[in-house]
Amino acid sequence: MCSNTNTTETQSATISSSFGKNLKITIFGGSHEPHIGVSIQGLPEGITIDFHKMNQFLSRRAPGNSIFATPRKEADTPIVQSGLVDGKTTLEPLTLIIENTNTRSGDYTALRDIPRPAHADYTASVKYDGSVNMSGGGPFSARMTAPLCIAGAIALQLLEDWGISIGAHIYSIGHVKDTPFDPVMVSSSDFIPLRESSFPVLDESKGYLMGDLIQRAMAEGDSVGGMIECCAVGVPVGIGGPMYDGIEGHLSQIFFGIPAVKGVEFGNGFECTTLYGSQNNDAFFMDGNTVKTVTNNHGGILGGISSGMPLICRLAFKPTPSISKEQNSVSLTNKTNEKLIITGRHDPCVVIRAVPVVEAAMAVGLLDLLLGN
Ligand SMILES: Cc1cc2nc3c(=O)[nH]c(=O)nc-3n(C[C@H](O)[C@H](O)[C@H](O)COP(=O)(O)O)c2cc1C
Repeated sequence: MCSNTNTTETQSATISSSFGKNLKITIFGGSHEPHIGVSIQGLPEGITIDFHKMNQFLSRRAPGNSIFATPRKEADTPIVQSGLVDGKTTLEPLTLIIENTNTRSGDYTALRDIPRPAHADYTASVKYDGSVNMSGGGPFSARMTAPLCIAGAIALQLLEDWGISIGAHIYSIGHVKDTPFDPVMVSSSDFIPLRESSFPVLDESKGYLMGDLIQRAMAEGDSVGGMIECCAVGVPVGIGGPMYDGIEGHLSQIFFGIPAVKGVEFGNGFECTTLYGSQNNDAFFMDGNTVKTVTNNHGGILGGISSGMPLICRLAFKPTPSISKEQNSVSLTNKTNEKLIITGRHDPCVVIRAVPVVEAAMAVGLLDLLLGN
């Protein structure tokens, strides 16, 4: 325990918010700070960024756009601070910010003493001892995924120029499952309707069932979790490497930086444990001069290295911690058991707004690997 940290200990407990080697992103700010932002190092010089596309991408994540999202409405307009001259990138880090305009810190005052079960209030209060502004969830807030989406929008643009396309859909909410991507035949055209949908599923009838489930949870003052399936097509053979340079480890690092992610699987994931080797192995065949596999249980990754088949993964998200149902907690100052009723504006299910966040994370992770290849 370090609740009585001295200055030296507190200083050493800095928050790491950087990811990547060749494309290094650093996310800064907080949910109820004046702004949040991202600094991106390692972008090629002289590229033009399509801000119209970036804004479209950010609006998919922005709050206040659906009945299933927190009503906190933010414009989420990125403002360039440095690294762009005449609309083109320079060799300096590209830094962009988003102003926070709709903060209601009063909603969070009580949570400093009575931590929300399943949120970061308790662990952060012990670790940072009040030296981090936790209002609105501070650096643990999902608001920090907006700067990730700025970096992701830029990475997606570069990847598209290189023939790599990324798309994602809501794979499940509770026990209701969407149709999965076809792991062999999935193509970039499958992603277009998903990007245009406020509830991106492949089977709309399943989408309605998922919506019902979320609404029932909302009516009970409760929340639900679910999974997102994400896919990249056009990834060339040979990206990644063995052991700690593998694609799975690299992408998992950025995926687990997304709040509420509790599991990541690649290819057929945990399902492979139920198969014989003869069923799980993906047979090779020649398609002209290209080596392909008949099935794609390996999700486009063998030995940490891309195989050229569609790269497929799924992320599990827990139910939103902040629910309005009464819960048991404690008073950290009085050391007593307490009842907690959370007010404020929260997503009844984080999965819907997290779809573009997962695409952004995969884009940044893959571009980082590609730039080092
Ligand atoms: C897009 C998105 C929106 C979220 N919205 C909320 C929210 O409204 N309320 C909340 O309590 N948690 C929300 N979360 C989850 C919390 O930020 C997260 O559970 C918390 O920081 C604790 O981290 P952990 O779940 O990774 O352990 C959201 C997460 C994401 C990805």
